[in-house]
Amino acid sequence: MSAAGSTPAPGAAKPLICLSGVEKAFAGRPVLRGVDLDVLPGETMVILGGSGSGKSVTLRHIVGLLKPDRGVVRVDGEPVQDLDEDELIPVRRKVGFLFQGGALFDSMDVFDNIAFPLREAGWDEERIAARVPEVLRLVDLEPDVARQMPDALSGGMRKRVALARAIAVNPQAILYDEPTTGLDPVTSTTINELIRSMQRRLGVTSVVVTHDIDSAFKVGDRIAFLCGGRIAFLGTVAEARTTTDARLRAFLEGRPHEEFGTC
Ligand SMILES: Nc1ncnc2c1ncn2[C@@H]1O[C@H](COP(=O)(O)OP(=O)(O)OP(=O)(O)O)[C@@H](O)[C@H]1O
Ligand SMILES: [Mg+2]
Repeated sequence: MSAAGSTPAPGAAKPLICLSGVEKAFAGRPVLRGVDLDVLPGETMVILGGSGSGKSVTLRHIVGLLKPDRGVVRVDGEPVQDLDEDELIPVRRKVGFLFQGGALFDSMDVFDNIAFPLREAGWDEERIAARVPEVLRLVDLEPDVARQMPDALSGGMRKRVALARAIAVNPQAILYDEPTTGLDPVTSTTINELIRSMQRRLGVTSVVVTHDIDSAFKVGDRIAFLCGGRIAFLGTVAEARTTTDARLRAFLEGRPHEEFGTC
């Protein structure tokens, strides 16, 4: 394991996603105070942190939806904060985003929801018609779900459809914002297994943002704990379980900690 922001050891894989000294304030209130994080190709990095600690803000920086006040965000070596909306299109094809809450288009059926990013990427309709059932199968949904409207689906099915949409263009990385929040424990388990199987079957790099500790330990290879606007802990799942870091221990055990005021 390398420490956050440190130079990888010679021969180590080049990070696919790299945040370096990222600072972000809203209306003068700092949220990120210097986030350093390298995500290696093929790994599942979990960002754990309290509500309002800046987890979603961190993810939004990776796909250029937010620009840092200071610092650098690189995807595959490219500094995304310098790119305009047109230049960001290839980055967003490389990095799929599963938004907090799913965010399906309610006026479109499942087929058109999944087809949306493919049409944006210029795929022809014949290729799209073949791809939609393929990605539905990858998330363990029957092809006939394609003609349903999102309103008719359960929360767990909506998450699967959102995941199918995120993987449709074959991204190298997927960012998951709270993939299990609001789901019952059984459905949460199946979504966690799906995240793992995306990694295994597609070799995809994942960043999973959550405050669900159980999910974090199930899906993660490494855990980054966001607290006080910085990565306060970075290590493997095994290292997180046995950490002596007082803030992470308190968070894992659901105890208050005086520094959580800034988490
Ligand atoms: N676009 C924005 N404009 C102003 N403030 C924002 C904006 N986006 C986020 N914030 C603020 O930044 C802080 C961190 O927000 P963020 O959504 O990243 O938290 P989070 O860690 O994802 O929390 P949760 O677990 O509740 O989703 C919050 O105080 C939020 O109000
Ligand atoms: Mg959030």
